[in-house]
Amino acid sequence: MIIRSWLFVPGDSDRKMEKGRANVADALILDLEDSVADTRQEIAREMTRDFLIANTDRSRQQLWVRINPLDNPLSLPDLAAIIQGAPNGIVLPKVFSAADVNKLADYLEILEVREGLPVGSTKIHCVSTETAASLLTFHTYLDGITDRLVAMTWGGEDLAASLGASDNRHPLTGEYDSPFLYAKTMCLATARAIEVQPVGVVVVDFRNLDELEADCLRDRRAGFIGKIAIHPGQTEVINRAFTPSDEDVAHAQKIIDVFAKNPGLGTIGIDGKMYDMPHLKQANNLLSLSEQIKSLG
Ligand code: COA
Ligand code: MG
Repeated sequence: MIIRSWLFVPGDSDRKMEKGRANVADALILDLEDSVADTRQEIAREMTRDFLIANTDRSRQQLWVRINPLDNPLSLPDLAAIIQGAPNGIVLPKVFSAADVNKLADYLEILEVREGLPVGSTKIHCVSTETAASLLTFHTYLDGITDRLVAMTWGGEDLAASLGASDNRHPLTGEYDSPFLYAKTMCLATARAIEVQPVGVVVVDFRNLDELEADCLRDRRAGFIGKIAIHPGQTEVINRAFTPSDEDVAHAQKIIDVFAKNPGLGTIGIDGKMYDMPHLKQANNLLSLSEQIKSLG
């Protein structure tokens, strides 16, 4: 299933969780990590579990949980509690390598058995670039990764801290500096190589919807599908930006039709432009994405 908008909601706020539930986000990420103060960890865990238990219909909107990182002792109690509410998946922050993702998969298997949930039902979305080490270990995802991993995003804020950077953007242009562009590129390449959904990074300036839209379109051109949101006002823009337009679909269909009518031809011209096999592949991908998004309802 394709998820276009993933809205972060602090796991210790009833008000925001209800607001998130009414929002058009394809998925909520109920957060137990950075948006929750140390003193509110236990209450957040309980509130999040209770919210999951009270909201069993996930047909329109999935409910995911970001737990604390695996090297934090809070992570196992987080998992043990929230699995009772059968979340659609876990967002795993601050990974060092694929080994962390596989370890989480093993924990989930034990907990699913304990809860009587179907084994394998809880999926994983990892935040792949928040530690310095993570930039050196992308190849480990190609050496055998759990089927539970369905999505991968990147992040520049924690990575900046881990790299010792005082900022992650150029002061004049506002563009990401090279280590962060590298992180973005490696996340995209790895996600595509292992056939999971590459998800675009959050735009923190949540009142600036023009900037958000431009960033969504840039991500989409690059190959990302969907984006993380931190404010309910961002999700409509994200859904729209990642939904192929009627024009896009018609154009893709035209490419497919012309190739179908000309079997044996590897290259064709349409409206004065050359199209070959990579374009046919892209056209098929676009139609498949459009079908999957339509099935979201
Ligand atoms: N999910 C659900 N509802 C949210 C929300 C979110 N992420 N962010 C804001 N809202 C609600 C607010 O509660 C408010 O509702 P109300 O008027 O009924 O109280 C409404 O949307 C408008 O909020 P607004 O005043 O524009 O924003 P704010 O100043 O209250 O909150 C943030 C700003 C950044 C603190 C807030 O958007 C937030 O908590 N975001 C998520 C942060 C997070 O999870 N970070 C971790 C990942 S990086
Ligand atoms: Mg963070």
